[in-house]
Amino acid sequence: MDLSKRLQKVSEMVPMCHTVADVGTDHGFALISLLKKGKIKKGIASDNKAMPLEKARRNAEEEGQSEFMSFRLGNGFETLAPGEANGAILAGMGGILMVELLESARPVVDLFDFLLLQPAQNPEILRRYLYQNNFEIMDEDLVQEERRFYEYFLVRVSKKKMDPNPSICDYSIGNILLEKKHPLMKVYIESKIQELTVISEKIHGTTENAKIKMERLNHKMTELRRIRDEYLC
Ligand SMILES: C[S@@+](CC[C@H](N)C(=O)[O-])C[C@H]1O[C@@H](n2cnc3c(N)ncnc32)[C@H](O)[C@@H]1O
Repeated sequence: MDLSKRLQKVSEMVPMCHTVADVGTDHGFALISLLKKGKIKKGIASDNKAMPLEKARRNAEEEGQSEFMSFRLGNGFETLAPGEANGAILAGMGGILMVELLESARPVVDLFDFLLLQPAQNPEILRRYLYQNNFEIMDEDLVQEERRFYEYFLVRVSKKKMDPNPSICDYSIGNILLEKKHPLMKVYIESKIQELTVISEKIHGTTENAKIKMERLNHKMTELRRIRDEYLC
């Protein structure tokens, strides 16, 4: 089994425990890797489509791990009973879908000891949701694979309110990544500035709406440059 750099980090960040559910499992590689490393004893592979789940079952059989896994078809966390797993993985789907899945299953989600979240898009939307909905971000990481960056959040549900200060740059910058002075942070911020530059070049016209959009983009780019220069030089 050839694990991508992105999935290797998922497997590395999941804490050692008994049972982990992988929601949106597809190939099942994250759980298979955790089982093979001995980090977990049981994996619940869940997906809302039959074909990916079948793929996970086949891969688990090939890797000799199928007896330690169960395979469940259904939407999000609906396949899990509250308290059944110590923690869950949501990886490779968009941040907006992750928010929907988390929010619609709080009785199950609130009982996890941890969640490992790796959004494929919109990490800032996920981060905002986490800050505003009683999650504690215990760790964050960042991986670059080919030209893409992937953010990781190890979180748990917490009664204490998170400090609003980490909402840096409209939640697009992770406070923990910044504190760690993550080695990829500088290039990551530069890639974000580049993305915003491309968007700003496409804004034409002198309407009030266009002006507001430009102001917002300029403000965000200035903030990103300030953070890059203040924290990472
Ligand atoms: C891009 S794959 C990611 C697979 C794997 N988690 C990874 O990180 O490589 C997304 C998977 O999520 C599944 N999925 C999408 N929406 C879902 C939902 N609402 N509930 C459960 N699974 C879902 C898809 O069928 C697909 O297998």
